[in-house]
Amino acid sequence: MNLLLPIFLILPVLARPQDQLECPSGYTLVIDKCLMVIKTPMRHLEAESACTYNGGTLVNIRDAITNRAVTQFAATAGIDKTWIGLFCFENKNTSMCYYDDNTGPILDYNSFASGYPMVDGIYGGCVYMPTTGSLAGKWVSVKCEAESIPVMCEVPVSVYDSNCAHNFNGNCYILSSELPITTAKFADARKICQDKNSDLVSIHSKREVDYIKSLYRGSKSQVLIGAQQILPNTYTWLDGYDWNTFDYRDPLDQQRTDYNCLTMDSATGLWNRASCDYEYAFLCKRPIQWSTAKPPTEVVLSPQNPSDFSNCNTTLLMTPGTITSYGYLSTSPPEPAVYCTWRIVTTGPYRVRLSFTDISTYNDIYVYNEDGTTFARVRYSQSVISPSNIVTVDFQATGRAGYKGFRAVALAY
Ligand SMILES: *[C@@H]1O[C@H](CO)[C@@H](O)[C@H](O)[C@H]1NC(C)=O
Ligand SMILES: *[C@@H]1O[C@H](CO)[C@@H](O)[C@H](O)[C@H]1NC(C)=O
Repeated sequence: MNLLLPIFLILPVLARPQDQLECPSGYTLVIDKCLMVIKTPMRHLEAESACTYNGGTLVNIRDAITNRAVTQFAATAGIDKTWIGLFCFENKNTSMCYYDDNTGPILDYNSFASGYPMVDGIYGGCVYMPTTGSLAGKWVSVKCEAESIPVMCEVPVSVYDSNCAHNFNGNCYILSSELPITTAKFADARKICQDKNSDLVSIHSKREVDYIKSLYRGSKSQVLIGAQQILPNTYTWLDGYDWNTFDYRDPLDQQRTDYNCLTMDSATGLWNRASCDYEYAFLCKRPIQWSTAKPPTEVVLSPQNPSDFSNCNTTLLMTPGTITSYGYLSTSPPEPAVYCTWRIVTTGPYRVRLSFTDISTYNDIYVYNEDGTTFARVRYSQSVISPSNIVTVDFQATGRAGYKGFRAVALAY
């Protein structure tokens, strides 16, 4: 009889199946990461696009154990080096190297070869790791587009759920196109999601945007998402997630400001205002229950203070952020004849999407690529997308009366 009690206590625990960590097909579970090797050498931008295609990034390494496991995994897969998910913006300063998965800069552990990172001259901000030879496991920074190197992609690990067709990062996604009712108004869409133990999707990161885009690839649509405008320009997520940590609204949204719902454009991933009373395709999301340890949640880089400072002559403005001409909005007295330049950057996997939301200038605004070539001369409200994760903007105000200047919003794209 004595034995019964402990057995009774243990049984429910044993009866519950252990969480089975799940990686998407093609990926292998390595410690707590889902990794995939692409043997074909690629330039950095191509490598990043290959990884973001399904909501991933290049592999992120934060400790020695992972560094060793990644080195071994690469060597076993038959590649002698791999790009890794880091981008450095300054020479010999590891706290200016940012992880691809948006967890911020290097804090303590790094494995740079002696003298690195170097980002200028013959070097560059992209980082790779030899996996064999004397430099095996060491990190080396190089020019991003000068070298072709094999790739290791990482997507967040998830939990197996037999009832889930689209499983990503511990959540299950349900597309309305796979339900009996494929389009609905906001309130009805919500009810349909709730019937499936989910709710309209709440989107927390660029990586999640990339994953959702992958679900709709090949079918262009506006997809209703789970956010609502509660006051002018103030939104909340249905799941209570803090709106200010990730805002992917199109700064050049042309829809009516009294529309209180949002749709995501499946091609760009950007969000636009939409009427809550129109029927749209919609996306439901439910968290998959973890019964054992959950991997660390993504720490989203804090957005810039959205207040309108010009950020004139900033050498490293991280997206998301806003720049304006010096003395923006003052037409009288005339805008000061000030020259300003801005260097705007984002993490390795993305490009910078710069939306000029307001322009009233005499001179054009110049936008330069990382290598100094002009890729846009901006005169009107428009969005430009940089070829890489670094852009420079130049503006020479004339000091003439009647021009109030410009404002531009930078997002990772
Ligand atoms: C490295 O960058 C950090 C963050 O910008 C800065 O605070 C620090 O002073 C820099 N260190 C050196 C040696 O330049
Ligand atoms: C920005 O830098 C340029 C070039 O160094 C300088 O001429 C200009 O006065 C600076 N602008 C401001 C507002 O400090």
